Amino acid sequence: MNRLTNTLKAAPSRELQTLLLAAARAALTAGTIIRELYAKPHTIRMKGEIDLVTEADLAAETAIIASLDEDAPGIAVMAEESYQGLMDKDERTWIIDPLDGTTNFAHGIPIFAVSIGLLDGGKPLAGVTYCPLQDELFCATRGGGAWLNDHRIQVTRTEFLVQALVATGFPYDIRKHLDQVIGQTRSVLPKVRDIRRMGAAAVDLAYVACGRLDGFWETALKPWDTTAGWLLVEEAGGTVTDFNGQQYSPFKGEILASNTTLHPLLIEAVA
Ligand code: IPD
Ligand code: CA
Ligand code: CA
Repeated sequence: MNRLTNTLKAAPSRELQTLLLAAARAALTAGTIIRELYAKPHTIRMKGEIDLVTEADLAAETAIIASLDEDAPGIAVMAEESYQGLMDKDERTWIIDPLDGTTNFAHGIPIFAVSIGLLDGGKPLAGVTYCPLQDELFCATRGGGAWLNDHRIQVTRTEFLVQALVATGFPYDIRKHLDQVIGQTRSVLPKVRDIRRMGAAAVDLAYVACGRLDGFWETALKPWDTTAGWLLVEEAGGTVTDFNGQQYSPFKGEILASNTTLHPLLIEAVA
């Protein structure tokens, strides 16, 4: 694949090259499906009061699983729309969000992504986030750097919150988290340049990795929202933790990602 030449060259092993290529092909295939469906009327089902699933989420997930099974067979899968609640957290597993930003997709807002991460022993080995409408393919392998369309990416060098453009998001079960979300936003907003609510956590993390955003935090996320983005940010030179600066785990729900200088300042602001 042309746009992966440098990305694959930098991957530290043959195995990681194969795995990244498998994830990238699956993400691009799903992205093509999503792009085609975006222009047509949608079939929308409610998963919760405000939580949607569309024909594109389901079609993309089916295509991703089939593609991964073809290119890298025998690896466990945790995919948002078919997840049954059972997973061995230490087993090597593809963590898949077939369409992150479904609400944007359904409302015709062009900010959404396919996100595929590979976890092994609880750590990310490879990650791909693909934004189909922008045709932007973000890739990372552990030790092989972070890349956007085959160009190396890095987090920002912003040193002060007042110069920082940060993002956050709101969980679907917002009533349960309202005080925390409002409290954090109230604390961060007057300290930073501005806050974005992109509507797709995988995009937020990819944008931190490539320096469009200086930081991102959100609570109550799922492993498929963050696994690929976690690796993208770390391989782009950034730091990813929970809200207390402790070791990040995609099973914890809360994430705070930024460049390493801003990180303690953002932790303090979010606290
Ligand atoms: C959602 C998006 C959103 C975030 C939500 C996620 P989905 O994922 O990432 O930005 O705020 O918490 O659940 O449902 O569009 O895949
Ligand atoms: Ca998601
Ligand atoms: Ca999703």
